[in-house]
Order: sequence, then C-alpha cells, then structure tokens
Amino acid sequence: MRQMATIRAWVMAVLLLAGSGQALAAGELVLVAGATGRTGQQIVRELNAAGFKVRALVRDPASARAVLGDSVEYATGDVRQRPTLDAALRGVRYAISAIGATRKDPANAPEFVDFQGVRNLAEAAAGAKLEQLVIVSSSGVTHKDHMLNKMFNNVLLWKAQGEAAVRASGVPYTIVRPGGLTDKPGGQSGVRLEQGDQGTGVIPRADVARVCVAALKSPAARNRTFELYSAQTPPETDWDALFGKLKADEPQS
Ligand SMILES: NC(=O)c1ccc[n+]([C@@H]2O[C@H](COP(=O)([O-])OP(=O)(O)OC[C@H]3O[C@@H](n4cnc5c(N)ncnc54)[C@H](OP(=O)(O)O)[C@@H]3O)[C@@H](O)[C@H]2O)c1
Repeated sequence: MRQMATIRAWVMAVLLLAGSGQALAAGELVLVAGATGRTGQQIVRELNAAGFKVRALVRDPASARAVLGDSVEYATGDVRQRPTLDAALRGVRYAISAIGATRKDPANAPEFVDFQGVRNLAEAAAGAKLEQLVIVSSSGVTHKDHMLNKMFNNVLLWKAQGEAAVRASGVPYTIVRPGGLTDKPGGQSGVRLEQGDQGTGVIPRADVARVCVAALKSPAARNRTFELYSAQTPPETDWDALFGKLKADEPQS
C-alpha cells in the first residue's frame, strides 16, 4: 500500500515537471545570439559566472574569438539565414538574443535583423523545441512617432514586429524591453519592471544581462513582455517574486 503511494507521488512529480518545463541546471548549454555585442558580452559573462556553458552565434568567428576568447564554443551564423540557426540550435534547450541592426550596413537594417532575424530565431527555436528563448527588445516599441524611428529606419516599429513574431512562434519566451543602455557596472542597484510601454529610464547593459539570465531560470518569466529600467532600490535577490508580479501576454491566435 505504502509502495503504491510512493509510486503515485513519483508519477505526480514527473507529470508536474513535464508540464512546467524542465528547470535550467548549471552546466546547461545556452545559445547567445549577439554574443559579440556590448550587451551580449555581459550576458556571456553572467552565464559563465553562473556555471552555464555558452555557444555564441557569431557572424565572424575569428573576430569574435578576439572578443570572447575560449570561454565559449562558437556557431557561425547570421539571423538573416534560417538554416544557420537550425544548425546552431542543435543540442540546445535555452537561448538568449541581444542582436541588433547595425547602422552602417543597409543589408543589415532593422527590417532584416530586428524583425526578420528575430522571427527566424523564434521559429528555429520553436522547431528545435526550446524550453525558453529570451529576447532583448527595447522600450518605446509601441510608439510609432518615437524619434528613434525617424533617426534609424523605423527600428522600434521593426522590433515590435519581431516581438509579435516571437509571441506567435509558439516557443516559450521572455521579451525584455530595456530603456536607454549604459556601460556602467551592474549589480549596484535594483531594477524596475513595467508593462504597458509608458515609462522612461536607463539601465546598465550588465543589469540587462542579469535580468536575461534570471528570466531564463525562472518559469515565472515565461510568456511575459516587460520594460526594464534601473531603480533606486537595493539589488534584487528574489527574481521569481519580481517576475511573478507580471501579467502574462495575451495568447496569440
Ligand atoms: N542602445 C540603446 O540605448 C538601446 C536601448 C534599448 C534597447 N537596445 C537594444 O538592445 C540590444 C543590444 O544592444 P547593444 O547596444 O548591446 O548591441 P550591439 O553592441 O550593437 O551588438 C549587436 C550584436 O548583434 C549582432 N548582429 C547584428 N546583426 C546580426 C546578424 N545579421 N546576425 C547575427 N548577429 C548579428 C552583432 O554581431 P557582429 O559582431 O557580427 O556585428 C552584435 O553582436 C539591441 O537589440 C538594441 O537595439 C538598445
């Protein structure tokens, strides 16, 4: 009788785990897109410090190695080319993207990177049955008349379309919308999470990285979109509680 109860408890535990997605454990391999970028480098540092292995998706492995050294493994790819993403995601269950269009190259404009590239990544991640994809987007994406749209090829409008593609892809995700990015050190203060895209503020890239890695580890962050700014509060210790206050996104039809 007692044996039956034990077996039932085990079965329940296994079913619960299967339903909620498996937890991210130290040693897990995480793909980072945009790993050579200023936020991407902080994400790699944060993941390594937390004991995760990193596969960096890079366009140019030689120059990437000069930036990231031997702390990561490399997958050569470009978010504009879907097959390179399918290959890069092999054997991966978690990914973070901090890609962004480059101003000088019209072939790498926001439409092709922040929209189509993000869509390619989300669809590849859904195809590879990832447990979680975290995307760095931007605050202000819902503001058509934002000055950044005039300054840089409608970058925020394209990012909004990229976000929509992530939500529609079916992959479990977190969309992080930081305010203005700085290169100040991270972990010096708390963060402010908002929803509705009405706020303003700034945040160090290192703190964006901390939030991305925390989101990867927290089921409470799944299928949430939120703005992210620095706050004049002590650094966070309970990320699950912070993410737990967020509303889930409306399911996409
Ligand atoms: N600047 C701000 O104040 C601000 C505010 C809010 C949000 N954001 C957003 O936050 C994100 C991170 O910003 P950041 O300043 O850290 O970025 P960044 O330094 O400009 O880095 C961009 C990264 O994207 C990669 N990339 C570009 N095109 C690619 C492609 N076609 N395929 C694969 N990788 C590609 C770059 O790789 P390469 O080394 O190959 O070029 C680089 O690693 C961006 O999405 C940005 O728009 C920025």
